[in-house]
Amino acid sequence: MTVRLHVNVDHVATLRQARGTRYPDPVAAATVCELAGADGITVHLREDRRHIQDRDVVVLRETVGTLLNLEMAATDAMVAFAARVRPDLVTLVPEKREERTTEGGLDVAGSFDLVRSAVARLHDAGIVTSLFVDPSRTQIDASRRAGAAIVELHTGDYANARGAGAATELARLVDGAAHAWSSGLRVAAGHGLTLRNVGAVAAIVSVEELNIGHAIVADSVLVGLAEAVRRMRAAIDAGRAPRSS
Ligand code: PXP
Repeated sequence: MTVRLHVNVDHVATLRQARGTRYPDPVAAATVCELAGADGITVHLREDRRHIQDRDVVVLRETVGTLLNLEMAATDAMVAFAARVRPDLVTLVPEKREERTTEGGLDVAGSFDLVRSAVARLHDAGIVTSLFVDPSRTQIDASRRAGAAIVELHTGDYANARGAGAATELARLVDGAAHAWSSGLRVAAGHGLTLRNVGAVAAIVSVEELNIGHAIVADSVLVGLAEAVRRMRAAIDAGRAPRSS
């Protein structure tokens, strides 16, 4: 089974917002990603609207032909927005305004009632929900009890670790993925993945999909967006391929 690649186009919008221009357009970028082989498009509608805007999500809902994954905080306003726009998938993420990017997974165990209620309301709106969690058995068990269909394992600690630390973090991801899978959850992963570190995550058998943004958009500055998506696709496939020796 290949691993699906969902490309996060947030940072195309970051470039646009930096100047308040109409370009570059994350909607056009999403089309290029799909043409280059992306299996889905991911956007994070942050509460401070620092990159993706409401209108981007509304237009993407009309234009994306693969799958639209909306990352958002578990607030009433965001749940109401999602129920109106109806992305294929919502990924609930923690959000602090001051952070540079999403730091740490959602504390599902610690905010169980809030998360369970958000998952239930999204389910009633016909939206599949994924929870972005650290690869901890406690958080994974809580995610299952909260009614999530998918857990997205946070790969940031693995991506930031060096040497033996990276092996330790990878082992946590392997354990978390196996635990989630055996509990009946589907398994995704993402954050901080690059051409160099994605292979080992793609090799984890129960991981079905990866959400990758910053590295692809960064590489696109140098090699073009379609080529950056193709290179990531190839790195994922190479990591997934059974070893011949
Ligand atoms: N998955 C989730 C839940 C995220 O919040 C992000 C960042 O928005 C990503 C994946 C993508 O991370 P990166 O941009 O580092 O590839």
